[in-house]
Amino acid sequence: MRTARLGQDADGLPIMALLLRDESGDIVAYRNLCRHLPVPLDGGTGDLLSEDGAHLVCGTHGATYRLHDGYCVEGPCEGMALQRLYVREAGGDLFVSDAPDSR
Ligand code: FES
Repeated sequence: MRTARLGQDADGLPIMALLLRDESGDIVAYRNLCRHLPVPLDGGTGDLLSEDGAHLVCGTHGATYRLHDGYCVEGPCEGMALQRLYVREAGGDLFVSDAPDSR
C-alpha cells in the first residue's frame, strides 16, 4: 500500500490517497477519509488493513470496507463507499487524482 497527498479539498481538509492492490491484483485508490466522520481511516497511524488483509478498516469506530470497490460492509457507515480516486499507470509510475484523466 502506498499513500500520496493530493492537496486540499474545498473545506481545507487534506486529500490523502491510498493506493493498493485489490483481491484481483488491480490497483485501486481511495481517499483516506472515513465515510462516518471526516477523519482519516488510520487516524495517522498508517494501520489500515484488517488482520487478514482483506479489508480496509477505520481505526476510530471499525467501519470495514471492501478493497475492490471501497464499499462499507460493516460498521457505522455500512452501505456507503469510500471516495474513489483515479489511478493511471505510465512508464512504470502511478499517477493518482481526484478526477478522471481525460487523456
Ligand atoms: S470514524 Fe470511521 S467508523 Fe467512525
